Amino acid sequence: MEIRPIKISDADNYHEFQIQIHAQTNYLLFSQREAEKRPVEFYQKTIGQMESDNLGNIIVALDGDKVVGSIWLGEYLVSKRSKQTNFGLGVFKEYHRQGVAQQLFDQAEQWIKEKGFARVEITVFSENIPAYNFYMKNGFEQEGLKRKSVYMNNKFYDEIMLSKLY
Ligand SMILES: CC(C)(COP(=O)(O)OP(=O)(O)OC[C@H]1O[C@@H](n2cnc3c(N)ncnc32)[C@H](O)[C@@H]1OP(=O)(O)O)[C@@H](O)C(=O)NCCC(=O)NCCS
Repeated sequence: MEIRPIKISDADNYHEFQIQIHAQTNYLLFSQREAEKRPVEFYQKTIGQMESDNLGNIIVALDGDKVVGSIWLGEYLVSKRSKQTNFGLGVFKEYHRQGVAQQLFDQAEQWIKEKGFARVEITVFSENIPAYNFYMKNGFEQEGLKRKSVYMNNKFYDEIMLSKLY
C-alpha cells in the first residue's frame, strides 16, 4: 500500500474511487447520486488548484494504480478561520481494519503540523461507530451535537462535532 499526496495523473482513478466509496457507505455527506454528478474534470481542476495555490490537500492510499482510500483536507479562505482545517475520510470496504485510515491520518497530521494549523475538525454521523472510535483513538474530543443535521431515507440523524487541537 502506498500512501502519498494526490497527483493530477490520479484524477481518473480518484473519480472512480469517489463514485464507488459513495456507493459503499451512507456515512459521507454526499449521496451516491450527488457523487456521480461530479465529472472527472472537477477532480482535475481541484487537484491542479491545490498544487498551484498550495491550499488544501488530498492524500491517497493506492493499491497499484487503484485509489482505495483518501483523506481530503480543506482550508478556509477567511483569515479568521485560517488556522483550522477540516477533512473527509474514506476507505474501501475490502480494505477496512488494515490500518489504511490510520496511515492516511498519520500523513495528514504531518501536513497539519507543517502548515501550522491549531485545530482540525470533523462531524461524524452519530451511528458511525467505526469512525467515532477512529477519531477517539486519534485524540479528538467531542464538542457538541448537531441535532437533526442529516436527512437521509426519510429520517433525521444527529452529527457529533469533534475536534483536535495542536
Ligand atoms: C472509518 C474508516 C475510515 C476507518 O478506516 P479503516 O482503514 O478500516 O481504519 P483502521 O484500520 O486504520 O482502524 C483504526 C481504528 O479505527 C477504529 N475502527 C475502525 N473500524 C472499526 C470498526 N468496524 N469498529 C470499531 N472500531 C473501528 C478502531 O479504533 C481502529 O483501531 P484498532 O484496529 O486498533 O481497533 C472506514 O470504516 C470507512 O471508510 N468508513 C466509511 C466512510 C466513513 O465513515 N468515513 C468517515 C466519515 S466521518
